[in-house]
Amino acid sequence: MLIRPHAFLFGLLTCGLASTSTGADDKQVVAPDFKRDVLPILDAKCLHCHGAKRRDGKLDMRSLESMLVGGVSGPAIKPGNAQKSLLIELIHYKEMPPKKEPAPVTNEELALLRKWITAMPAPTTLAPIR
Ligand code: HEC
Repeated sequence: MLIRPHAFLFGLLTCGLASTSTGADDKQVVAPDFKRDVLPILDAKCLHCHGAKRRDGKLDMRSLESMLVGGVSGPAIKPGNAQKSLLIELIHYKEMPPKKEPAPVTNEELALLRKWITAMPAPTTLAPIR
């Protein structure tokens, strides 16, 4: 499957578009779970700079709540909208993790993170989270 990353991503994109128009269907597909699926990726590739010891860019990525608060540029995640989430944008443009890091985020991991954010319900209140 590694040979066709673009076909894979395209598939996900089409699914995403289809689900926005039909709504209900994608709930059947199990959304990535933060602790089980997302945290291991962040732990391996982000937390040594955005966690307990360091908070580069003032961003703490150890919890969803702290990512919603975000860092110097504001929230790292926009629930329900992967495309507008800074976290996804920076990974997509290969700015995070920084180039000198040994292990970049793979296409599969990025797809999983996108899926996780897309499946997240948008907040029902505009009150800032503290
Ligand atoms: C080697 C350390 C390092 C690693 C690893 C790292 N980052 Fe960063 N990150 C930084 C630094 C430094 C900044 C601040 C850069 C700047 O402001 O130009 C930053 C900034 C950010 C920001 C913007 C914060 C803000 O509000 O301005 C996001 C989002 C981010 N990183 C996401 C990630 C993600 C996701 C990963 C893992 C895939 C990751 N980073 C891995 C060092 C790191």
